[in-house]
Amino acid sequence: MIEKQHKEHFLAKTFAGLEEVLLQELEALGAHNCQQHSRSVSFEGDLPLLYKANYFCRTALRILWEMDSFTFRDNNQFYDAIYKFPAEKYLSKDGTLAVSASLTESDFKTPLFPSVLAKDAICDRFRSIYNERPSVDKEEPDVQFHLHIYRNSCTLYLDSSGESLHKRGYKVSGHPAQINEVLAAAMIKLSGWHGECDFIDNMCGGGTLLIEAAMQALNIPAGYYRHHWGFFNWKNFDRRLWNKITDSADIKEDVNINFYGYDISGRYLGMAKANVQEAELQDFIFLEKSDMADTRPERTPALIMINPPYGERLEVEDLKVLYKKIGDTWKQYFSGCTAFIISSDIEALKSIGLRPSRRFKLFNGPLECLMLKFDLYAGKKSGYREQVIGNS
Ligand SMILES: C[S@@+](CC[C@H](N)C(=O)[O-])C[C@H]1O[C@@H](n2cnc3c(N)ncnc32)[C@H](O)[C@@H]1O
Repeated sequence: MIEKQHKEHFLAKTFAGLEEVLLQELEALGAHNCQQHSRSVSFEGDLPLLYKANYFCRTALRILWEMDSFTFRDNNQFYDAIYKFPAEKYLSKDGTLAVSASLTESDFKTPLFPSVLAKDAICDRFRSIYNERPSVDKEEPDVQFHLHIYRNSCTLYLDSSGESLHKRGYKVSGHPAQINEVLAAAMIKLSGWHGECDFIDNMCGGGTLLIEAAMQALNIPAGYYRHHWGFFNWKNFDRRLWNKITDSADIKEDVNINFYGYDISGRYLGMAKANVQEAELQDFIFLEKSDMADTRPERTPALIMINPPYGERLEVEDLKVLYKKIGDTWKQYFSGCTAFIISSDIEALKSIGLRPSRRFKLFNGPLECLMLKFDLYAGKKSGYREQVIGNS
């Protein structure tokens, strides 16, 4: 018997620079026809794949389900097209909804107008069927509709994720300069590390990189600590299917590597401890208050990954001195290791004084950053202290 193919169309959103790594994750989950766009990847599959992407994908911010697309000449045609959409398949008459929109080269002046028009069309349809209409809840709607409007064409999506997927559920303590979990997970994937050696963050703050690395090494799904997704409130939510998918996670009980985190601030280290505890990873992640200059690897090789202060959110007297200290410490005490650093301060990065073997352009929120890779050889290597970032 030929199995019926479900060709639903989805769109996974991410940060600029992470499209390729997200595409690889989606393909590994069984997604078909994956295509990269700016800050998103479109793909095809079925409802189980939508659930899987929400639960397992580490580098997606949210997953949208494409419901309809149409062109329109005026507001009436726009309203009519939305009115025809059978929203009652997903939304109850006593449920709540919200509609958001993004516009590109559109005659609509602001996203608010098409959002309100679409909301009216959906509510009018409910009124005509049930004599009742759902109410609007912009904060926590049961069903979040999203419209992508490009010129006079519109695609209608359901946002299946609800809260952004970077909210993993293990952050009980928020560091003021914490790195986004999706970016942290992508940095680890881009590094090529697959848990084959110890992982060190000499400036760990609230511990995001350590926790994401431990989750990857132990195969803990990205959504393991999270309790809610947008599609839980849809009328078609299949709890049995969801349970089957979450039960299929193949989490390792142990790994023969360790994770080491250090921070100069006792307060920030306390935050890392709280987050690690919440993620129940305290048997794997060892935390110690220390200046990074006093840290040493327990064994080599190890993978080092740090997100030092950029001077944006944290006051640092002299970033260049700090970055030079990072380079000197790595060179002197971490030979045999591979180190990655992300920063938006290109001048400060030059002060590391080591030759990067790779560079990745990434975004930490609105900040354009470089992630540099250093192979820390023992002894002198030609050009070791040359500065090759930019054109200096
Ligand atoms: C940008 S934050 C790291 C945030 C972390 N990645 C997170 O997601 O929570 C930089 C951290 O470096 C720490 N730091 C600054 N100078 C340091 C030093 N000399 N040695 C160790 N840690 C240092 C700060 O206390 C701060 O927590």
